[in-house]
Amino acid sequence: MSDPVSQLERPAHEPVIRWAVYEDISRLEAIPDIWELRDSNLQAFQAYRMGRLLWLVAEVGGRTVGTIWGELYPEHDRSGRTVHIVSFRVEDAFQGQGIGSRLLRTVEEEARRRGRKVATLFVAQDNHGAIRLYQRHGYAIGGARTSRFDYRDPAGRRHTRVEEQYVMHKSLEAEGSHPLQHREPGY
Ligand SMILES: CC(C)(COP(=O)(O)OP(=O)(O)OC[C@H]1O[C@@H](n2cnc3c(N)ncnc32)[C@H](O)[C@@H]1OP(=O)(O)O)[C@@H](O)C(=O)NCCC(=O)NCCS
Repeated sequence: MSDPVSQLERPAHEPVIRWAVYEDISRLEAIPDIWELRDSNLQAFQAYRMGRLLWLVAEVGGRTVGTIWGELYPEHDRSGRTVHIVSFRVEDAFQGQGIGSRLLRTVEEEARRRGRKVATLFVAQDNHGAIRLYQRHGYAIGGARTSRFDYRDPAGRRHTRVEEQYVMHKSLEAEGSHPLQHREPGY
């Protein structure tokens, strides 16, 4: 971060929500299921650089402990109305402290600033904790789908994830107030 004064004023371990930088890709790989998705993360970083994806991370005491993406032109709606929330993850030891909620509110606010009217996401139907979190944040279930995702991890192993998911959505029309300290990504 490039704001040493506010860093000094902040308690040492208060989470900071900020734009992702390239180094976060490897920092986040301490989380095993993120390590597996290195190829997706590298591709996503290109999309982020091109302004097609919002990528926020949570940092605690110099460690990157959480991540969230907002796709600005998702496959299911390229009109520029929708932000699609993907890859939302907080490291296990840091869960339940409100970090995920802050990441979600902040990515919604940044999407709203870019004219997005609706937020959507896909969540596994048996991920009851996450569904509860989304409902508390104003998301409603709008449908169901089966997702199939094929990928290769950095060790070269192939994986296939098949998941029964809910489609959830939320209107972003209401005002929000969770701005980032630095308005534009620094990459
Ligand atoms: C979902 C997730 C990002 C939330 O982050 P977080 O920092 O724990 O979120 P918050 O502290 O703001 O909110 C906690 C809420 O998250 C939900 N939650 C989901 N999984 C949880 C977990 N393993 N531990 C604690 N809370 C969890 C609960 O609803 C909890 O609310 P509660 O007080 O009603 O129990 C995080 O739990 C996570 O990484 N889970 C695994 C990956 C995942 O399921 N991502 C969503 C995919 S769509």
